[in-house]
Amino acid sequence: MNKIILTGDRPTGRLHLGHYVGSLKRRVELQNSGDYDKIYIMIADAQALTDNADNPEKVRQNIIEVALDYLSCGIDPTKSVIFIQSQVPQLCELSFYYMNLVSVSRLQRNPTVKSEIQMRKFEGSIPVGFFTYPISQAADITAFNATTVPAGEDQEPMLEQAREIVRRFNNAYGNTLIEPEILLPENSACLRLPGTDGKAKMSKSLGNCIYLSDSEEDVRKRVMAMYTDPEHLRLEDPGKVEGNTVFTYLEAFCRSEHFIAYLPEYANLDELKGHYRRGGLGDVKVKKFLNAVLQEELTPIRACRKEFEKNIPDVYRILKEGSEIAREVAASTLSNVRKAMHIDYFEDNDLIQSQSFNYGKAR
Ligand code: TRP
Repeated sequence: MNKIILTGDRPTGRLHLGHYVGSLKRRVELQNSGDYDKIYIMIADAQALTDNADNPEKVRQNIIEVALDYLSCGIDPTKSVIFIQSQVPQLCELSFYYMNLVSVSRLQRNPTVKSEIQMRKFEGSIPVGFFTYPISQAADITAFNATTVPAGEDQEPMLEQAREIVRRFNNAYGNTLIEPEILLPENSACLRLPGTDGKAKMSKSLGNCIYLSDSEEDVRKRVMAMYTDPEHLRLEDPGKVEGNTVFTYLEAFCRSEHFIAYLPEYANLDELKGHYRRGGLGDVKVKKFLNAVLQEELTPIRACRKEFEKNIPDVYRILKEGSEIAREVAASTLSNVRKAMHIDYFEDNDLIQSQSFNYGKAR
């Protein structure tokens, strides 16, 4: 069986470090590993519209931002197909058929949908499109016969729902679709990178993000203002590492080479943590180290982005060509789906040639 990746992001803002460690960095590694036969990376504008119906301009503007973030992180359009969801109408068609395989109460129980409804204060006035986006996401995945969906753990309920749809479809219409699996980040600090204020998640509305496209100075400022241990007031005080954002980020980003380069008096993160716990290590020193580590990671990304920014029409061309390929692949899946569902009337010769009608034969 082919190994196929599909994954994507809603274009509602520039991508931040949470996206980067949670999935983007991994995608690039997977792309370059050569282990996958096909890789599709989707800019989910149609999904973004499910909760931005009155702000299409925001979605439209952010398509290019997300594309630039992809390209500058090393997603290579000669190896991965980058496309725009709304340009593949087959995904809507597939969603429409899948809707018959999912109950309203099942959607209501989807934990991601539940918490997102709360977050958006949608209770009582949930847009139908938003409510059903797990179904459309199942269409996104299955249209490309994806076996593997690299994503953060918040996407786990989506994948579960997609697998259920696949099983129900295959049971009802015969083996047609492939059950996808999620591929979670390996490092637990990457599972969900907290915001710079220590809150559970980076989010634009909370203003606690570090963006991939932030300037060197902006990154430095964010790091220096990061939430640490509120009880670690004086240098000599013992400090807590758990729930200390600076250390969580270090867990996600730092490697032993970084110690050699920027903080040679410690061999590794465990030693640094030990000193912090004992007391005598100030936040500023740890933050400066984190800043050095992040700048090392972000500088090449920033430089690469600058190059792509010089030629925006080229980026749109990449998206257009990717969307054309995606359309062809999705159309071929749709044709299998129609056949399985016996709604391929005009391709069904038995149906067209059948001439015997049995009205009135029964006695
Ligand atoms: N829900 C994802 C997000 O919030 C975007 C997305 C849409 C997606 N369809 C997908 C991710 C299919 C993985 C697979 O960013």
